[in-house]
Amino acid sequence: MTDADRNKHTDRGTLEPRDWDAFSRAANAALDAAMDKFQTASSGRVWTPTPDTIKAQLNSPLPTAGTDLEAVTQQVLDLLPYGVGNTHPRFFGWVHGAGAPGNLIADIVASAMNANCGGRDHVGIYVERQVIDWCRTLFEFPHESSGLLVSGTSMATIIAAKTARDAALDFASRQHGVGNAPLVGYTSEQAHACLARAFDMIGLGTDALRKIAIMADHRMDLTALKAQIARDRADGKHPFFLAGTAGTVNTGAIDDLSALADIAQDEDLWFHVDGAFGACAMTSPDIAPRLKGLSRADSLAFDFHKWMHVNYDAGCVLIRDGARHRNAFANRPDYLAADGVALAGGEPWPVDYGPELSRGFRALKVWTHLKEHGTERIGQAIARNCAQAAHLGKLVEAHPDFELLAPVTLNICCFRYTRPGVSEPELDRLNATLVEQLQLDGIAAPSTTRIDGRFAIRVNITNHRTRIEDVDILLDALERLAAAR
Ligand SMILES: Cc1ncc(COP(=O)(O)O)c(C=O)c1O
Repeated sequence: MTDADRNKHTDRGTLEPRDWDAFSRAANAALDAAMDKFQTASSGRVWTPTPDTIKAQLNSPLPTAGTDLEAVTQQVLDLLPYGVGNTHPRFFGWVHGAGAPGNLIADIVASAMNANCGGRDHVGIYVERQVIDWCRTLFEFPHESSGLLVSGTSMATIIAAKTARDAALDFASRQHGVGNAPLVGYTSEQAHACLARAFDMIGLGTDALRKIAIMADHRMDLTALKAQIARDRADGKHPFFLAGTAGTVNTGAIDDLSALADIAQDEDLWFHVDGAFGACAMTSPDIAPRLKGLSRADSLAFDFHKWMHVNYDAGCVLIRDGARHRNAFANRPDYLAADGVALAGGEPWPVDYGPELSRGFRALKVWTHLKEHGTERIGQAIARNCAQAAHLGKLVEAHPDFELLAPVTLNICCFRYTRPGVSEPELDRLNATLVEQLQLDGIAAPSTTRIDGRFAIRVNITNHRTRIEDVDILLDALERLAAAR
């Protein structure tokens, strides 16, 4: 491009760079720094607290005048070390994916296109359809199922629960609300909080979601489930929804999805599966058989940003009956009519399958990621994580000072440090301190939870960079920190 051409472009908008060469230098510096971040992801600290100097900079007045791009770029790059730490192989907290460099390319292109993927006829819609179609294949959903890329499983769950609610009330709820409809749903007491939040948000209230007891293996107790459904029917309630979990957040337990699908069928309930991370194990031939029954779900919520490592954020909802999904969300005012063969064509539009009209081009990074890595490589990384969690479980069991608090069945190991003669509250405090110290020292970042009321160090491994040595480093560090207390 000649200088004259560049200037012509610059003159068109007041927000274009004044100097494209300077812009190119800034953009390339950012790209180099981003690549460096990924290339060095396995070294250095796991989590680094945000320094006070940066916090102070983030407490400044609204900029009314602009700042030189070079200076802004430097300020942006200064933020790079202070993320959550989940790109590091010893980030073991909550359930975070580790990300992958290929996403950088997709994000640059998506940003350059600045596409609004709520609808209309443009390539972003076709990319998302392709991704949804791949999901149908992976999760063995039928051709007439529908899907939508969303921010994460929490949003996917809201969309699934609303579709189920409206289907149960013949879609009249869309206009008249739920009134006093006695709808009730079921999930295990180990289910993620996003299910209760969805019940809150769809106007049923959290009490309408019955939390069913679990068995010793942390899976939903099916006898207790059937008894609760019977009690509710006897009380004049309207059971409509049953959510199983493929990988609970506390321990990674996988509910008996086939049995739940049978119960849902017998009781005429909408069968939802929360597969936030666990569903991704469909990519692993070794683990997929344990997800049997998942493909019979009426709806599935899962994340690409967890065990598939697409960079945040990227979740997905799949709904078996695409027509009911559409009926639960579609409403097109005149100004959004989908007409003809030009830009306003391209039916069906994503806006008809969820609450958002304006949506970014999230699908591009998912599409690129799946193309680059394929499901086989992703599945192999998942199987490795399960082996690492099992290795940690064995080390804990063999160690006199550590106690395993739940069986390791997938990728999560919950345990605690113990010491003879120390009270339960003191043990809780000691273990909490150990986790904080690991994080503050930058060595590793597990999180915590409670298992059967006991405070647990919770190590979740959803990280393609983690190696067995990282697990050993974690336990060695815990041993050392505990001995010093
Ligand atoms: C089992 C389970 N369900 C739902 C969620 C919520 O997912 P998101 O954070 O993508 O909304 C999580 C998050 O960790 C989870 O582990």
